[in-house]
Amino acid sequence: MTPSFNQTQALQTTQASPVHQLKAFKVSAAVVLTASLCLLSAPSTWAASAEKGKEAFMKNGCWQCHGTEGQGGAAGLKLAPSPKPLAYISAFIRNTNGPMPPYTEKILSESDVADIHAYLQSVPPAPDPKTLPALN
Ligand code: HEC
Repeated sequence: MTPSFNQTQALQTTQASPVHQLKAFKVSAAVVLTASLCLLSAPSTWAASAEKGKEAFMKNGCWQCHGTEGQGGAAGLKLAPSPKPLAYISAFIRNTNGPMPPYTEKILSESDVADIHAYLQSVPPAPDPKTLPALN
């Protein structure tokens, strides 16, 4: 008995019909469009906000040791103006095992930390003492 291999049938099943191909194209075009829209809108959600950073700085009690503007105090170091890089601050917050308690990502997300960094960056530099009438 010869194997009954039906070539026409095999071709029909492997070759997608033009309608089918068009549908597949439409679906992939929609996927690409959605993906690029997500990428386009992403920077606005990632951009650090000094305003939100100030909120997080207050809400999480950073101010109690570091001062409301990160100027430093009896309990915490000066953080601003001219804060250290975000990567340093983030690593410190997560890993500190000294007098400052560590903050996990559950309590303070990476975007909160980026916002806090933006807030510290927004603190203006101290004025030159020579420009303060009370000191001259
Ligand atoms: C209980 C007091 C306390 C609180 C609350 C606190 N800190 Fe600190 N922080 C410290 C102390 C003390 C140090 C210095 C610790 C050390 O050198 O180990 C420090 C160090 C740091 C440093 C490293 C500074 C440097 O120049 O090396 C950063 C950054 C920092 N804190 C950020 C924060 C942020 C952001 C928060 C809030 C999420 C916060 N801290 C909350 C007490 C505190």
